[in-house]
Amino acid sequence: MAPSFINTHTLIRDYFLLDPSALLKRNEVLRLIIEQGPVLYIPEIEVYTISGQKAIREVIRNPHTFSSRHVTGHRVSRNYRVGLLNADPPTHTERKLWASKSFSQSHLKQRESHIQELVNTLIREFHDKGEFDLINDFANPITVNLTLAILGIPLTYFNKFQYWAIAHAAPVGNPNLSPKAQTKLIIEFIEFERFLIQLIETDQLENGLIKDLVQKMEDPNTEFTLKELVLMSHQILTAGTETTAKFLLSIFENLLENPQTYLEIQQNHALIPTLIEEVLRYKPPTHGMFRTATQETEILGYKIPKDAMLLLMYSSVGVDEEKVKCPFHFDLHRKSANHHLAFGSGIHYCLGAQLAKILANIVVTSLISQFQHMRISPNQILEAHPSYVFYGYKKFLIQFDPISKKSK
Ligand code: HEM
Repeated sequence: MAPSFINTHTLIRDYFLLDPSALLKRNEVLRLIIEQGPVLYIPEIEVYTISGQKAIREVIRNPHTFSSRHVTGHRVSRNYRVGLLNADPPTHTERKLWASKSFSQSHLKQRESHIQELVNTLIREFHDKGEFDLINDFANPITVNLTLAILGIPLTYFNKFQYWAIAHAAPVGNPNLSPKAQTKLIIEFIEFERFLIQLIETDQLENGLIKDLVQKMEDPNTEFTLKELVLMSHQILTAGTETTAKFLLSIFENLLENPQTYLEIQQNHALIPTLIEEVLRYKPPTHGMFRTATQETEILGYKIPKDAMLLLMYSSVGVDEEKVKCPFHFDLHRKSANHHLAFGSGIHYCLGAQLAKILANIVVTSLISQFQHMRISPNQILEAHPSYVFYGYKKFLIQFDPISKKSK
């Protein structure tokens, strides 16, 4: 069977070509994609979207036929290197095990007080201003800070790494990057590489994931090079920041757009975990990631040519009408809120899933406890982040009344 692709619906096409108004209709587009069937070819970007749990499972349980080698959707042919996200078994199996130590229960427990401290410090900076930009004043700094702590990169270099973390996620789901912008990214990656190697060689790293990886690299029984270590660290930096920052945005957008939900959450903090799950189901920060077909094959009977690029639409699983009632409706009391694949599935399941939820819980609790009448600032023009993979805005202003002022 050939995949559906005759006359791509205009809205779908505009969305994948990053038309700003189409990007704002993300769930409308998702619904249309699902309607077209589990395998849809988008000729404008030469990508097959794979939607629905059945089709996605067929792909992820077969990493040999559907490789992660171009996991971010870019075919890099020169200097091809393997880190973690773009690794396939058996390399992936070993590296995931190395990295998972930094996400163990005991590490997560220690992170909680660190996150609370970070949240308190950031809130102090805009507490008296009555308004803040959730993305740039809050979500980006907090997620970069946290990821640097996991990696063991000293905070002195926060600005440099914040720049790399955000700028280097830009090519994901962006087919419109100019050759000049692409060259700039390559040069910057080399700068990142040099800088990190210098930190390693001058022994400036703190205890953390990179130091653990250096030990693995020095182990004569492993085949793990310094450049692979750098790439793996870079992948974890970008995987941990952009997604989580956009996740916080999605939570607050849904919370503040639904006054009843906001009120209920304010009155009952025990509902926060359900809010978090419902956001991951209804509007996760990322649609999914890419796979490459290593041979001619089929998915649920649909023909897939060798070298085809597939976008696994994990976001489609949470809005599956057969499993979730009124899926395109945001409902804080939904029993099936955790029916989603926002963090992927199978061998590449997200390492930071639990951490992201812990962070979100602390952030929501702290902000709603310290501020009253939080509201999306009126008169701002919401500009969509230019990516068909990540969901979000370039900035998102929120106004509030500090509780302390009210109670005086
Ligand atoms: C809400 C926030 C997050 C979302 C929605 C998210 C989403 C995802 C998804 C969908 C994947 C699967 C990729 C694939 O199938 O190829 C993934 C993998 C991964 N994520 Fe996350 N992520 C989040 C937060 C984080 C954080 C905070 C970290 C670390 C600090 C992190 C680190 C990773 C890593 C290392 C992988 C690769 C795992 C592997 O290849 O085996 N993520 N994430």
